[in-house]
Parts: sequence; structure tokens; C-alpha cells
Amino acid sequence: MIDYKKMIELAKSCMINSYSPYSNFKVGACVLTKNGKYFVGTNIENASFGAAICAERSAISCAISQGERDFACLAIISSGGDYTPPCGICRQVLSEFGDIEIVLAKDENDFKVCKLKNLLPNSFDSGDMK
Ligand code: THU
Repeated sequence: MIDYKKMIELAKSCMINSYSPYSNFKVGACVLTKNGKYFVGTNIENASFGAAICAERSAISCAISQGERDFACLAIISSGGDYTPPCGICRQVLSEFGDIEIVLAKDENDFKVCKLKNLLPNSFDSGDMK
């Protein structure tokens, strides 16, 4: 049973570290591995706007760097106060690691859960490189 509340709390506590002087939009993400480990990430912006890294990819990078790549779920929260869906690039990056659950949270008590496949149907994957 996935502890969505805990994931949202962890994402929220990471969100405060957001480096987002250009958008002032703070995002936090928490990814849960199938073996029960949590990794968090936040968005990191840059004066060269295209170099920004989203919170989701930040969390995934953290997990992969620690040798974990079997994911069950990823939760996202932002300073905007509404549900924050992952951007297109993050959806593609996440799709590399299977059809995980995605939690879109306003706060610990108000969140929606969906599957990545519903957010990114017909994604490009390794099987398409023939
Ligand atoms: N952002 C994320 O961190 N995740 C998303 O899925 C949407 C966008 C960040 C990137 C940028 O720092 C700010 O939100 C505004 O786009």
C-alpha cells in the first residue's frame, strides 16, 4: 500500500529548496522505489532558461544516482496551489522506467492518482528504434 501522504510531505519539504528566481514557481517531487525507498527533487532554473531542470527529473536523477531504477510512484506538488501535471519532457523521461503511478497533489489531503500511460499514451520507447 503506497503511503501517498508521506510522499506528498516529502515532496513538499523538498519544494522549499527550489531554485526558481525566474518563474517564482516552486515544485517538489518524490519518487518511491518498488523496494520502499524515497527520493526527492526540486526544480532548478538557470539564466539560460532552457537549462532548467524540473523537480520530477531532479528526483529521478537522484534515485538513479543512488543505484535505484525500479519505480512505483512519483508525487508532485507546487507553490501554485493547484494540481501540477508533469511537463512533456518529464513524462517522456518517466516513461523510460515503466507505467508508474503519478500523484498530483494540492496538499497532503487533496490529491489525484493516475497512471503515467494515461498522461502519455503511445510514448516513444526503445521498441520504436528499429
Ligand atoms: N516545472 C517542474 O519542475 N515540473 C513540471 O512538470 C512543470 C514545470 C518547473 C520548471 C520551471 O522551473 C518552473 O516549473 C516553471 O515552468
